[in-house]
Amino acid sequence: MSTQYEHILTSRPNPSVALITLNRPKALNALSTPLFLELNKALFEADADQAIGAIVLTGSEKAFAAGADIKEMKDKEFSDVYKNNFLANWGELSRLRKPVIAAVSGYALGGGCELALMCDIILASPTAKFGQPEINLGVIPGGGGSQRLVRAIGKSRAMELVLTGRMVSAQEADQWGMISRVTDNVVEEAVKMATEISSKGQIAIQAGKEVVNAAYELTLAEGLRFERRTFHGLFATKDQEEGMTAFVEKRKANFTHL
Ligand code: CAA
Repeated sequence: MSTQYEHILTSRPNPSVALITLNRPKALNALSTPLFLELNKALFEADADQAIGAIVLTGSEKAFAAGADIKEMKDKEFSDVYKNNFLANWGELSRLRKPVIAAVSGYALGGGCELALMCDIILASPTAKFGQPEINLGVIPGGGGSQRLVRAIGKSRAMELVLTGRMVSAQEADQWGMISRVTDNVVEEAVKMATEISSKGQIAIQAGKEVVNAAYELTLAEGLRFERRTFHGLFATKDQEEGMTAFVEKRKANFTHL
């Protein structure tokens, strides 16, 4: 990943993992438009890179991201935000084919919480605090929080977060099933998980992500049919042949992503 960015850092902790770090420390990684444009560019660059199997997205110790940039939004008017479809480009993350793991420490508020929810897996350090405090600014979530939270934690809890603006701890978010787990050294753990994901066949990984995400959109019957058809389709891949042969031969599979 060669592009130089102003508001994010990109690196490869190993050849198969892209690590993207939000880097506006003075604004607690507030998600300004320039930051989001860079983030989308870096994400799609990693998604298109054949060597990368999974992406880790993180912030700082103090803040994953403290929300959309309030200073940028403050003077906007309805005509600006509506005509220009403000925040619409945030949803691009959900078009990525490769898995994205959010490694959250500190504040994940408003758009920061929504950004974590757009990722495929959330790991949180014990310091993480999640919330949708937009109600204190006279607005509501605009980056998908109200919809994804209901699916993640149910109506009552989502309603409580959206209507009170209360922050929940990593432990509470864990109990609520909003995140995968709480862990020390969250970035290291996320990179370890991304490395493991990258060691599998990429076609099956992308198919796994696609079918899990389809559960949000489809009825159970449609989802089950889609899953089975996708499963059938994987029998056209060399990775299926290799994976099952390796099992029978009691050796490690050597996936070629074909
Ligand atoms: N936008 C712009 N700047 C922000 C910001 C944000 N969302 N969050 C923090 N900052 C800035 C502060 O203005 C401050 O900058 P200055 O030093 O220039 O004043 C700097 O980051 C440090 O912040 P604090 O001094 O407030 O730090 P703190 O430790 O006292 O408090 C905090 C931390 C509780 C996270 C507090 O900063 C805060 O409440 N931030 C706003 C959280 C919020 O309301 N997020 C929702 C935004 S709206 C949204 O996201 C809409 C949507 O759905 C997409």
